[in-house]
Amino acid sequence: MRVIYHACAFLGLLSTARCVNFPWESIQLRDEDVGGFSAIAFGDTSAPGTVSNSSACRAYPGSPDWPVDDDWARLNSSLDGALLKPTPPGAVCYPGPNYNFARCVSLLFTGGTSRFFIDDPLTVLTSWPTGDTCSLSLRPTGNCTQGGFPVYVVKAATVRHIQTAVNFARNKNLRLVIKNTGHDFNGRSTGAGALSIWTHWLKSFEFLPEYTVGEYSGPAARVGSGLEAWELYQYMDIHNMTIVVPGGSTVGAYGGWAAGGGHSTLASIYGLGSDQFLSLDVVTADGRVVTADPTQNQDLFYALRGGGPGTYGIVTSAIVKAYPPIQVTQSVLAFSVGNAGGFGINDTKTFWKGVNEYQYYGKAICEAGGTAYSYISSLGSGSFSFSTTVEMPGKTPSEVISLMQPLIDKLNTIGIPVNNSQPSSSLSWGSNRQGEGDSPGNTRFATRLLPARNWDNATLFQETMDAIQATIEAGYTFHGIHLMPTEKTAGYPGNSSVNPAFRRTLMHADVFDMVGMQGAGTNAQTLETAHARLNGYMDLIRAATPDGGAYINEADVQEPDWQRSFFGDRYEGLLGVKKERDPWGLFWAPTTVGSEGWEVRTADGLPTQDGMLCRVGAGA
Ligand SMILES: Cc1cc2nc3c(=O)[nH]c(=O)nc-3n(C[C@H](O)[C@H](O)[C@H](O)COP(=O)(O)OP(=O)(O)OC[C@H]3O[C@@H](n4cnc5c(N)ncnc54)[C@H](O)[C@@H]3O)c2cc1C
Ligand SMILES: *[C@@H]1O[C@H](CO)[C@@H](O)[C@H](O)[C@H]1NC(C)=O
Ligand SMILES: *[C@@H]1O[C@H](CO)[C@@H](O)[C@H](O)[C@H]1NC(C)=O
Ligand SMILES: *[C@@H]1O[C@H](CO)[C@@H](O)[C@H](O)[C@H]1NC(C)=O
Ligand SMILES: *[C@@H]1O[C@H](CO)[C@@H](O)[C@H](O)[C@H]1NC(C)=O
Ligand SMILES: *[C@@H]1O[C@H](CO)[C@@H](O)[C@H](O)[C@H]1NC(C)=O
Ligand SMILES: *[C@@H]1O[C@H](CO)[C@@H](O)[C@H](O)[C@H]1NC(C)=O
Ligand SMILES: *[C@@H]1O[C@H](CO)[C@@H](O)[C@H](O)[C@H]1NC(C)=O
Ligand SMILES: *[C@@H]1O[C@H](CO)[C@@H](O)[C@H](O)[C@H]1NC(C)=O
Repeated sequence: MRVIYHACAFLGLLSTARCVNFPWESIQLRDEDVGGFSAIAFGDTSAPGTVSNSSACRAYPGSPDWPVDDDWARLNSSLDGALLKPTPPGAVCYPGPNYNFARCVSLLFTGGTSRFFIDDPLTVLTSWPTGDTCSLSLRPTGNCTQGGFPVYVVKAATVRHIQTAVNFARNKNLRLVIKNTGHDFNGRSTGAGALSIWTHWLKSFEFLPEYTVGEYSGPAARVGSGLEAWELYQYMDIHNMTIVVPGGSTVGAYGGWAAGGGHSTLASIYGLGSDQFLSLDVVTADGRVVTADPTQNQDLFYALRGGGPGTYGIVTSAIVKAYPPIQVTQSVLAFSVGNAGGFGINDTKTFWKGVNEYQYYGKAICEAGGTAYSYISSLGSGSFSFSTTVEMPGKTPSEVISLMQPLIDKLNTIGIPVNNSQPSSSLSWGSNRQGEGDSPGNTRFATRLLPARNWDNATLFQETMDAIQATIEAGYTFHGIHLMPTEKTAGYPGNSSVNPAFRRTLMHADVFDMVGMQGAGTNAQTLETAHARLNGYMDLIRAATPDGGAYINEADVQEPDWQRSFFGDRYEGLLGVKKERDPWGLFWAPTTVGSEGWEVRTADGLPTQDGMLCRVGAGA
């Protein structure tokens, strides 16, 4: 072990000089550290043959190849004691040794106003992928079991911890999970019988006023991969600059968000999260550490910028672009029809006409550098509500008033009596929540990136709006995000692997499945029927947007033809990088590149992570 900071370290026999961003990245596993513990030996991508390639399934507690207690104890000492064996937080609500009624009540009702769930090694914020085997509940059914939660968690504090865990999982045929904040909607940061690598505490930060790489010269920042949006807002205040961060304030900025795309308030002026990277430090599936940037490991640099989370390596830190300080001004607008209250109108036709005028105007908002977040819901008996928040970075309130006036005029003309409201400072920009206020829920939705070209043809635009209207009339809640993260907006370094549908889009359209959100105890057949119904309505939107796609991080885990929807024509190239960098298929998560070779075998057939991970077509 050698500790060198801001200097280039020589890595054993490879003789390659490389630099790291932070001191804890200099603490590395070297060949000589493996000693007699072959379970943590490095892999060789050119000779991948190991036990893990012949087994049908990943090891599982109770299976003959599950490591014995002594192996786990030895792993723990190789990890300086960083190995955890956590119990799901919901265990306090169930009969058994962990039962604690007061604690159960407090987690249920006040857990979300603290950092408890975000700082918990197991919790994921969408519960259903765990199999709901230990949900927080005052009246739980059955006993609490680990279900789709991992068995062991490595609380990573050094790169050496991550390398050691990667090697152990690969050599021992274990299912490996990477968890940062646990925000993933589709269970990509949880998994039954898994060893989880928890990157949440890798929170170092350093501002670089002048940084140069390739053709980039300007402000930048070194960032640990565990940083959340709200923490980055604090650094923006301290250093009087801007960094592109997720809208959700506890979402991790350099884990899943940026790896899958990453949209934000600034998307129409600075591009996506994946467009911010200038350099990444990564632990690859063979256990080695590499830097990927425009001059080295270009295949990884390409794949890690948008090619999907948890697939090609574990990002430990990065260097990202920084910008001058910016203010974001917001304008809100709402109207409704029927008994919904607010700016009421009583003609449904006029309501939809107004909705479509707004959706159309989203193009002007994006062209002016903005993004807009609207919700449309059916309230039953012919009542519908519409509301939106328009976010304008770098614009003064009077500029925003002028920008909104043509839309307001149009709405007034068609009989919707809305006013141009006084703009205010954006409520979603800045660290006002201090990282609090998230607790587990059960979101299920399906989404579509609508192509901008659908705005250029009145017939096609109307077809698109008709499809959206049909989903809302069928009872679904619609959430539309107008954004325009074009290639040009993204700028240098370019050539990223992000879904090309993002480059052509004008709206990320989300359709929420209320039945899917009912959570624990909902019958599997009910959920499957609900999903089939949702998918039928999504097909209407897909039919109107044949050259659209879908955003992997906010999508249906059962998206049809997901390779094309989530990756477009990037899929084949990314699969090549995946096979070369991870011939073991060690990094696995649903709908990521190469994941079709494996399946989770669940008892109820639902697409959760509560089951053994097995090769498709292999026997038990
Ligand atoms: C409340 C909320 C608000 C959201 N807001 C936005 C938003 O504004 N914009 C947007 O685009 N999306 C948003 N999302 C979706 C978000 O992009 C995804 O949930 C994303 O996967 C979160 O990444 P994470 O690293 O925080 O979460 P995790 O669930 O911990 O990880 C997500 C995925 O990334 C992988 N991963 C994590 N860390 C690493 C790493 N260091 N190296 C390699 N792989 C890693 C994991 O294996 C997993 O596959 C939001 C989600 C929620 C729940
Ligand atoms: C499995 O291992 C054998 C050698 O034992 C190797 O030839 C083969 O390519 C490996 N297959 C995969 C999918 O890694
Ligand atoms: C790992 O070691 C630490 C320190 O000795 C200990 O606290 C912890 O409980 C161990 N983890 C497991 C899973 O046994
Ligand atoms: C719960 O656990 C107890 C004690 O182990 C056992 O007797 C009981 O049958 C279990 N209940 C269910 C529903 O599995
Ligand atoms: C912050 O940066 C802006 C523009 O770069 C500059 O005008 C302003 O004076 C700076 N503020 C402080 C407090 O340094
Ligand atoms: C983009 O990067 C990938 C990976 O390095 C490379 O194969 C490809 O040729 C590049 N494409 C362009 C247009 O530069
Ligand atoms: C709503 O309907 C009533 C009669 O039913 C009518 O008097 C009123 O003008 C209508 N309001 C609007 C905004 O159309
Ligand atoms: C909208 O503005 C008009 C004047 O133009 C005013 O009479 C009306 O009260 C305003 N409505 C709301 C809800 O503020
Ligand atoms: C507009 O879209 C419609 C419906 O998809 C299509 O039939 C028509 O050819 C398009 N018109 C142009 C000019 O592209």
